[in-house]
Amino acid sequence: MTISTKKILDTETFPKVDFDFMNETHFEEIEIVNELGRLITAYQQDATFTENEINKITYSLACWLQHTQTHFDRENMLMMNIQFPMYLVHSSEHSHVLKNMNQIVKAWKNNNDIEPLVDYVFTVWPEWFVEHVESMDMVTAQFAVMVGYDPHSQPSEQ
Ligand SMILES: [Fe+2]
Ligand SMILES: [Fe+2]
Repeated sequence: MTISTKKILDTETFPKVDFDFMNETHFEEIEIVNELGRLITAYQQDATFTENEINKITYSLACWLQHTQTHFDRENMLMMNIQFPMYLVHSSEHSHVLKNMNQIVKAWKNNNDIEPLVDYVFTVWPEWFVEHVESMDMVTAQFAVMVGYDPHSQPSEQ
């Protein structure tokens, strides 16, 4: 995969939803993934990759996984608080993605094969993320505002 065919998300143009904390989380996640993407590209371009480069990718993946877990937990909590009618559809998508991401990270730790990571980070995940935010997250945020939640509040205040 060449650099020009890699899908890299940009916080400036990424779709926004009606809830601040959700947008903030999405932007943080894009920054994490872009940093991971830079590490992966450097790894691809360097035939003599070192243990240090491998460890950096592993660490970045662990940060991403942790961030995703918190991201999904907060949205699931919001959906429960507002009694969102499509809770199961939205939360099961979260579960499915988290499971898939766990498998990708585990496989990387076992074999240090960069190609599945390239495919996931530059194609599978960005395509899913845009689609998910534009559908599930957008509708959830609209519903929360409609039932009276302050769009500027933080999860701890809800
Ligand atoms: Fe989200
Ligand atoms: Fe979501």
